[in-house]
Amino acid sequence: MKALRLLTAGLAGLIFTAAAHAAGGAEHPHPPEGGWPFDGPTGQFDQASLQRGYQVYHQVCSSCHSMKLMSYRNLGEPGGPFYDPAYPNPNDNPFVKALAAENEILSPTPNEVGDFDFRPATPADRFRSPYANVEAARAANGGAAPPDLSVITKARHGGASYVYHLLSGYPHDDAFVKREVDGETVTYVDMSKMGGHGGEHGEGFLKINPGQYYNPYMAGDTTPNYEGDPRHAPKGGFLAMPPQLLEGRVEYTDGTEATVEQMAYDVAQFLAWAGEPKQEHRKSLGVAVMGYLLILAVLLWFSYKQIWRKIEH
Ligand code: HEC
Repeated sequence: MKALRLLTAGLAGLIFTAAAHAAGGAEHPHPPEGGWPFDGPTGQFDQASLQRGYQVYHQVCSSCHSMKLMSYRNLGEPGGPFYDPAYPNPNDNPFVKALAAENEILSPTPNEVGDFDFRPATPADRFRSPYANVEAARAANGGAAPPDLSVITKARHGGASYVYHLLSGYPHDDAFVKREVDGETVTYVDMSKMGGHGGEHGEGFLKINPGQYYNPYMAGDTTPNYEGDPRHAPKGGFLAMPPQLLEGRVEYTDGTEATVEQMAYDVAQFLAWAGEPKQEHRKSLGVAVMGYLLILAVLLWFSYKQIWRKIEH
């Protein structure tokens, strides 16, 4: 009885903390419409989307974000965006070679006089990093260093869905208003004009500090900047990354229309793949193991029946 009471109290506590957690904070990142092709025990990445996602990373994100755990050769490995069965060794894949060579990197080995030269990357090289170190990254971005994106979908709650919504969830241009305050122009977001971005946002104005950007999916607290009932301060927070994906920001080589949602979807899928490049292999192995265990179980059942057939039990 006592155990039961303890259990009920524990459960009630859990539910209470979960509810307390749900209030405030950031908008919950649900998967995009139709879900992700790589979800579920047999889900697989969409290779065309991975290719477009790499294009978005290369042309947009890579000017600020590194992906230090990735080498160009990974792009041509089985399950990767540019895998071609004709080239089992991705170092031989001419397309991967060409993609790598688009990047000038500082050679990791010194030349004959001991200096480090720039040279086009090869498939064996790591992805080019935009900044020499974190101090340089911080200095160039208003004090906030852009995080490495190699495993960002593993490092954030919501994974690929979070990245997708963060990139496509910034307020539209018509949600901004400017006001003169003490001779200075201050920017506000008119919350009633946020539209369908991540659910209900209510009314009121949110003050935007210089160098900061509001995003309903970013973790944070908007209360100090909110002109309205603090109990209903908008979800989300501020970050130092300006909106990156504007309509037509890239021109897709496969002709797909580059809407904001499309680019966010493709780059989020690419980052999910980068975070777990062996996921497809793991899943197909998992399915094979389940099949094997099933057959084994049936065989065991029959051998058990066989062994005990003459004994009353
Ligand atoms: C102009 C530089 C710049 C570009 C280009 C850029 N970012 Fe960022 N990004 C930043 C900075 C700076 C931060 C850190 C913001 C902060 O912590 O306030 C950031 C943070 C992030 C975060 C982490 C947010 C969090 O939860 O902490 C993600 C995810 C991200 N960027 C994805 C991308 C993707 C994907 C692209 C390409 C479509 C991209 N960024 C392009 C500068 C950039």
